[in-house]
Amino acid sequence: MTATLMDGKTVAARVRADVATRVAELAEQSAVRPGLATILVGDDPASHVYVASKRKACVASGMTDHHRHLPAETTQHDLEATIDEAADDPAVSGILVQLPLPPHLDSDAAIARIPAGKDVDGLTTVSAGLLSRGQIGLRPCTPAGVVELLDTYSIPLAGAHVVIVGRSALVGRPLGQLLLARDATVTICHSKTQRLAEHTRQADILIAAAGVRGLIGAEHVRPGATVIDVGIHRTPEGLCGDVDFDQVHRVAGHLTPVPGGVGPMTIAMLLSNTVTAAHATVSR
Ligand code: GUN
Repeated sequence: MTATLMDGKTVAARVRADVATRVAELAEQSAVRPGLATILVGDDPASHVYVASKRKACVASGMTDHHRHLPAETTQHDLEATIDEAADDPAVSGILVQLPLPPHLDSDAAIARIPAGKDVDGLTTVSAGLLSRGQIGLRPCTPAGVVELLDTYSIPLAGAHVVIVGRSALVGRPLGQLLLARDATVTICHSKTQRLAEHTRQADILIAAAGVRGLIGAEHVRPGATVIDVGIHRTPEGLCGDVDFDQVHRVAGHLTPVPGGVGPMTIAMLLSNTVTAAHATVSR
């Protein structure tokens, strides 16, 4: 068997086109233009690249860009003051603090300053609580992007056994909640899980979000399963994921490539959250 590749670029382009339409409709109905504040601290090269892509996509879909770049030695107080300023700015619909922050800063305390209505990354405790209770709120972008990809490829979720490898606040945990809300049976594995392959081979849908290059090989995958690779690693040969692509594409039924799978979906869902947040302000 050779897996059908799940084309995140094409799906993300469709989501972004929908976002651009919603932005134009909002401007027509209410003269409100959604705006995104990205807050970047320091000079991590990968974070610079990610934030630049987010800003470019934001402007391309008709939203306004309210970027703030703070020096690496920024204090917690100054970072929080910057977040508070964006929180109070009516032109800013959504706030994103790019992670990781330099080690002297407390990212939980910083993120806690973001009002839930502007939490387009879905990372605050309030957003996590709303998600876990099944209440309306902004959902984390990468998990929302994974669900959008699964839906686009008509992968059934209700009753499916989903095994997620990784329990991060950014991906594993919220993705488990999102899929539970869609009536999947969810298993979350992590670095202390024993006999990982025994769990992952049970999966109808296997999601690798451990941050370990090449962790998932053919022996981890039930033939025909859907495999989603959330990992991203820079190597001298280019980008690769948590899944050993060459092995797994011979076993899986569907598989996301790296790059071009989940990655483009994260930005698309960020834009979608930003226009949703702007809509909510108008209807408030
Ligand atoms: N760093 C890596 N991915 C993300 C993300 O989705 N959001 C934020 N804020 N930082 C990140």
